[in-house]
Amino acid sequence: MDMQHWNPEQYAENGRFVSDLGMPVAELLSAQFGERILDLGCGDGALTIKLQRLGCEVVGVDSSLEMVAAARALGVDAQVMDGQKLQFNNEFNAVFSNAALHWMKDAEAVIRGVWRALKPGGRFVGELGGYGNISAIVTNIESALAIRGLAIPDPWFFPHSEEYRRLLEVSGFVVHDLELISRPTLLPGDVGAWIETFAQPFTAALASDERSEFIAEIVESSRPVLCDINGNWKADYIRLRFSATKPNIPIQKIAG
Ligand code: BEZ
Repeated sequence: MDMQHWNPEQYAENGRFVSDLGMPVAELLSAQFGERILDLGCGDGALTIKLQRLGCEVVGVDSSLEMVAAARALGVDAQVMDGQKLQFNNEFNAVFSNAALHWMKDAEAVIRGVWRALKPGGRFVGELGGYGNISAIVTNIESALAIRGLAIPDPWFFPHSEEYRRLLEVSGFVVHDLELISRPTLLPGDVGAWIETFAQPFTAALASDERSEFIAEIVESSRPVLCDINGNWKADYIRLRFSATKPNIPIQKIAG
């Protein structure tokens, strides 16, 4: 499957709301001065730099070279790394992640890597797309593909709260908060701009001269559900927000 390609300028125009709306999860992290924090999927570093300005020592990782370059230009210590293959050991007080984990389909590998990266007592606090996220958009994309005889595997992981709780607990985390939050999200443009920015694994399946008609069709099929009478578009976002801790003393499995 073709990969998502991140363009920092396009993201700044069509996706700035992602970091702007990430403040509640940053508040849940409650970063303390001097803490060493890993921002997993730091993107262009817009939230990472805010943590840094609180006096934290923050490292950002992202799989996109372009986004890492944009984060570095902001002054973030960022590096290219696949979140499913984290290369850190016992060194962070917290791992933070906003709107990135749903791109990492091997959630077990992510959680194992986060566990390794944290010091005992460290926190894992994040937000990702949850079960049912953008279901109207996905349905309309899939219908437009089906008309063309295409079926593209879903590139995202939108878990149910109980599924994600189990994944965290099986790895040894103690879960404190975990909830699905419906958050219809005002878009800066229409759903077509959202698709161009965030849904490239689908559009890449089409020849480049077929993409604008494909996107226009989805804009029209989505309009009755996602666009209000004033022309404002809202994406049907559902967030899964959580906080968990790697205990100081490993929890022993009870035999029998
Ligand atoms: C999200 O933040 O929920 C999301 C962003 C891009 C693609 C899919 C989901």
